[in-house]
Amino acid sequence: MEIQHNISLKEYNTFHVDCKAKQFVSIETAADFLKLLQSREWVHYKERILFLWGGSNILLTSPTFDGLVVCNNILGKEIVTDHEHEVFIKAGAWEEWSSFVERAIDHGLYGIENLISIPGKVGAAPIQNIGAYGTEIGNAIVSVWGYNLETKEYETISHKECFFGYRDSIFKGIRKDEFFITDVTFRLQHFDPDTYAPISNYGSVAEELAKKGITKPTPRHMIDTITEIRAEKLPDRHKVGTWGSFFKNAVLTQEEFEDFTERVHRIKPDLTIEHYPINEEFIKIPTGRVLDHVLGYRGHREWNVGCREKQALCIVNYGWASGQEILHFARKIQKECHDKLGIAIEPEVNFIG
Ligand code: EPU
Repeated sequence: MEIQHNISLKEYNTFHVDCKAKQFVSIETAADFLKLLQSREWVHYKERILFLWGGSNILLTSPTFDGLVVCNNILGKEIVTDHEHEVFIKAGAWEEWSSFVERAIDHGLYGIENLISIPGKVGAAPIQNIGAYGTEIGNAIVSVWGYNLETKEYETISHKECFFGYRDSIFKGIRKDEFFITDVTFRLQHFDPDTYAPISNYGSVAEELAKKGITKPTPRHMIDTITEIRAEKLPDRHKVGTWGSFFKNAVLTQEEFEDFTERVHRIKPDLTIEHYPINEEFIKIPTGRVLDHVLGYRGHREWNVGCREKQALCIVNYGWASGQEILHFARKIQKECHDKLGIAIEPEVNFIG
């Protein structure tokens, strides 16, 4: 374990924003981590530490990070406990998320197939409660194991204690910066063609399966189809910097929804925005559709930053955009949503300044 100085984080965040970390350390083993806790740098920067798990859900908003960046490279072996119908798998935080999903399917398991192609690492999945096409990872997480920086002990956080919500968990809330995730345990099912009931009714997935003439999809069909849809909609993150959806879908009260609908009709009289009641009080609306059809942001570009041509919700870094530039662009979109449509749209991405 070696602490390095003035290291560029460009390759450590999926938006490829250049930000120099004053101190940087890569942790390969749990022993490394314990060594780090004894170091001078740890004591010095205790209040200014950034844990990185692939940087797939952060925006570095400053050219420098005046603290200690801890890059979690703990791979960890998968430990499998097999039961009759289900399997518990404990995976290391640094495992590439998508290859973990692939391997699970190759081993005849299912439960997370709809989450293929989401960038990032296993350790970031519970923080963000990643979700796509009707599946949220929180439902498959049994527990999260890691180091509690307050108590200075390893600890298991059960599913219930994770407080999973829409792109949300306790790791973004009161346990933010307090818990260093090292492993995650998932509950997956053995594939049985007679009982397998995939979540395949999500619009674009159902359409694509129908086009291929697949009426009884297997987990392999699901990951192949979803990989294709995502490759078409979301950019190749090796070529342009991105995170996927930058903003969450908006959640409005009935009253806010009525006001919003009225304002939309004033701008676009013929447009209907689909909406999904969450409960009696709240309604979810697809922010991507609003940015595209109401505000015209799909394909809109300002210098190095823009909204993807095929998915307005996805902000991309076309070249050398700084974190500030991206933040400025995002704030502009938020302001326009607020001023013209009366809605507050929340970023899904976490800002690190
Ligand atoms: N739409 C447009 N124009 C656009 C974008 C979307 O008209 O530019 C419309 C679509 O046609 C569709 C609706 O808006 O009718 C919703 O779009 P989509 O199905 O693409 O899903 P989304 O709500 O934009 C969410 C997640 C994605 C996830 C997909 C599929 C959020 C913020 N995003 O996107 O998650 O992959 O559903 O389940 O919840 C992510 O979180 O990073 C992410 C990619």
